[in-house]
Amino acid sequence: MEKTAYVKTYGCQMNVYDSERMRDVLAGQGYGEAQAPEGADLVILNTCHIREKAVEKVYSELGKIRRMKRARPGMLIAVAGCVAQAEGDEIVRREPSVDLVFGPQTYHRLPQLLQQRHETGRSVVEADFPVDDKFEALVPRKTKSVTAFLTVQEGCDKFCTFCVVPYTRGAEFSRPVAQILTEARKLAESGVRELTLLGQNVNAYHGDMGLAGLVAQLSRIDGIERLRYMTSHPRDMDDALIAAHAENPKLMPYLHLPVQSGSDAILKAMNRGHTAEHYIRLIEQVRAARADIAISGDFIVGFPGETDADFNATLDLAREVKYAAAYSFNYSPRPGTPAADFAPVPDEVKSARLQQLLGLIHHQQTAFNASCVGLTLPVLIEKPGRDPGQLMGRSPYLQAVHVTGSAHLIGDIIETQITSVGTNSLSGHYRDAA
Ligand code: SAH
Ligand code: SF4
Ligand code: F3S
Repeated sequence: MEKTAYVKTYGCQMNVYDSERMRDVLAGQGYGEAQAPEGADLVILNTCHIREKAVEKVYSELGKIRRMKRARPGMLIAVAGCVAQAEGDEIVRREPSVDLVFGPQTYHRLPQLLQQRHETGRSVVEADFPVDDKFEALVPRKTKSVTAFLTVQEGCDKFCTFCVVPYTRGAEFSRPVAQILTEARKLAESGVRELTLLGQNVNAYHGDMGLAGLVAQLSRIDGIERLRYMTSHPRDMDDALIAAHAENPKLMPYLHLPVQSGSDAILKAMNRGHTAEHYIRLIEQVRAARADIAISGDFIVGFPGETDADFNATLDLAREVKYAAAYSFNYSPRPGTPAADFAPVPDEVKSARLQQLLGLIHHQQTAFNASCVGLTLPVLIEKPGRDPGQLMGRSPYLQAVHVTGSAHLIGDIIETQITSVGTNSLSGHYRDAA
């Protein structure tokens, strides 16, 4: 009987990409894909270390899987991703049923790690930052999707005082252009129409050219109709990339540009390297290049030392920017980061502020979605919808759109008249269907 593996993903899109690549590596080792951990021969948790809650989730899931392993002794449990990188051996100490621990830069070595586990009968922990290029070693990708993530940059040298990423993902690294183009062409040949270029600081991409140059090259690939990128840092938003939003019709009008706070004192304590004013000027420049661009962001609420005035500056910034979407989080102290030693804001203050910011963002998102009613938008159809005769696609602004139509439209970009909005999606009908 075929062996099967189940890979569960936590955290950001970069982990989604990595999980896909792990599945490809495992397929090369004869593993089929399991739909659930029960009954799988190998369970991999691809983990996130960004906030305390994310880490707790992993340990609670490991508790459940340990019980499954008792009923099925041959089963292997692996912890991959950022918790693996940050905690290494500690994971096996806390949860001895774990067989393999490996970080985000070593999953291409899965076959050797499995072999080592088999030969030694002991848990294997691999938390190095290797010198070899994992992308070179990975097997070609397979996908049936219309959209795909493509990691072009990894790691971070910015060391924001709250953040674990520089420690879990290592130093900034940009993949060579030729390697990215090869992967993109393969994806286009398999039917992918939209690529989202990923990086912890994707606009710090240097390679042989900046991100704008890479976008220009990718947009010349036959079959690739849409390009997106995330996550960007305000310090790396250069003129060429802003100009690309004006010049390149394949570059979608959506920019995820986290600011974290609207207070200069807090931005300084966070080591973000820019002011609120700088951020607002950037948004103005981007909007001058592409007036309809949808802006999204991330906020941290209750960073140590944040006063009411600091928080009000965050609300003011959000009011000025008018976000199409944004993600807001309570500050979570992370072991080993400088801010973990700063004096905390009380939990109840943090939570009250978070509710206020979430309310404002929800209001802005609803207003942005409502402004689309009556427009005709090009929607890339991705998959069948929940109801028969329904399709699901995305607008240029990344909104989910429900459209009536038949499955042969999957992979097409169809002109869709937007008729109504829900909380998180739009509905419309296909212009030519009438
Ligand atoms: N490189 C990106 C962000 C990557 S982390 C940037 O610089 O903007 C994704 C998001 O997680 C961050 O934007 C931040 O809002 C949030 N985050 C990171 N560390 C956090 C912490 N310690 N507590 C709460 N939120 C955090
Ligand atoms: Fe973390 Fe800051 Fe790097 Fe973003 S730029 S990954 S928030 S250290
Ligand atoms: Fe989490 Fe690692 Fe991504 S900490 S947010 S999975 S880079």
